[in-house]
Amino acid sequence: MPEILVTGGAGYIGSHTAAALAAAGYSPVVIDNLSNSRESVIARLEKLTGKKIPFYNADVRDGAALDAVFAKHSFSAAIHFAGLKAVGESVQQPLRYYEHNLTATMSLLAAMQKHGVKSLIFSSSATVYREDDEVPYIESGELGCSNPYGWTKLFSEQIIRDVCAANPGFSAVLLRYFNPIGADKSGLIGEEPQGVPNNLLPYVSQVAAGIRPRLSVFGNDYPTPDGTCIRDYIHVSDLARAHALALDFAANNAGAKAINIGTGRGYSVLEVVAAFEKASGVKIPFEITGRRAGDIPEYFANPALAREKLGFTAELGIEEMCRDAWRFEQNRKLFPEEK
Ligand code: NAD
Ligand code: UD1
Repeated sequence: MPEILVTGGAGYIGSHTAAALAAAGYSPVVIDNLSNSRESVIARLEKLTGKKIPFYNADVRDGAALDAVFAKHSFSAAIHFAGLKAVGESVQQPLRYYEHNLTATMSLLAAMQKHGVKSLIFSSSATVYREDDEVPYIESGELGCSNPYGWTKLFSEQIIRDVCAANPGFSAVLLRYFNPIGADKSGLIGEEPQGVPNNLLPYVSQVAAGIRPRLSVFGNDYPTPDGTCIRDYIHVSDLARAHALALDFAANNAGAKAINIGTGRGYSVLEVVAAFEKASGVKIPFEITGRRAGDIPEYFANPALAREKLGFTAELGIEEMCRDAWRFEQNRKLFPEEK
């Protein structure tokens, strides 16, 4: 079975992708420094997939550590998730974000070149689109970011494009994720935010579980039908499956290609709350508070290119996203707390 390097594979999207790769006949090999995840995820992944998942506790920025892993395996491609991802923190600590995320991308590319690995799938984000782009966002839209985290994604995309241009035969798929939520249906892996969640779904789940008293809805005076912001939520298992399809595409197409991964359908904050209440049977107390700085009223994906190039269409709806997130939230307390 082809071996695939998964950096950040103990994290939220990386772990679901490792499971999707195993299901699609690949052998995922994980490198993760556990800065935002736990080692027990690997054991849970092995239980879920019924396969041994080689795991290296290492930092992707460490070239010598990467060399050792590349020497032990024969990778046909790499999928790069490892990085820092908190938007607000990136505004406070720009140098840390640029150093971390750009060094990680360059260190991985250098190891790939050195060891003759020529396909890369990169975790980019819808945040690379300019805020004033028309919705739905399309890959040919204007690019530009409003925070350092976003720029690390856009600069990484450019670095990868330049490496593709300099190395004929090198291929990369830059997957621009919209808002991943939910969890694997096994309930074994899911999103495990440390501290107070920044994102909507983990916060709603914790309110439902009684960990937090109520949700703050950040503004109901936006120009949307119910006044709350609209986003394109996608089930993380659908997103994970897109990576397996992107590997097939990269194997047959040299050069770099950016592709949106979303559903093409937006939901407002209040619609998500209602869907979660329905899926969980739990009432979510909330209050309307002020707008969160930097939020924009509405965006969602044009998903046509993913369909055309990858044969990818999201299959799971908001009901499944909320149901699976809730199942995982309830299971979470059963997992060992090693960190
Ligand atoms: P996550 O934090 O759950 O996963 C990232 C993993 O990488 C963690 O396990 C962390 O320990 C590890 N890591 C971080 N820096 C590392 C390093 N230098 N070396 C080795 N391991 C390192 O995040 P996620 O939500 O799974 O996101 C994965 C990727 O997708 C990130 O690059 C993120 O920016 C991108 N992305 C996420 C979202 C989202 O909403 N979750 C949206 C768009 C893009
Ligand atoms: C966030 C990231 C973005 C990333 C995207 C992908 C920020 C500012 N942006 O986007 O870079 O690409 O995730 O998943 O973190 N909300 C509440 N109350 C809460 C939390 C959120 O009302 O407690 C609202 C927000 O105002 C927003 C919506 O819920 O309208 C979704 O928020 P969130 O889950 O944080 O995602 P984004 O801000 O879209």
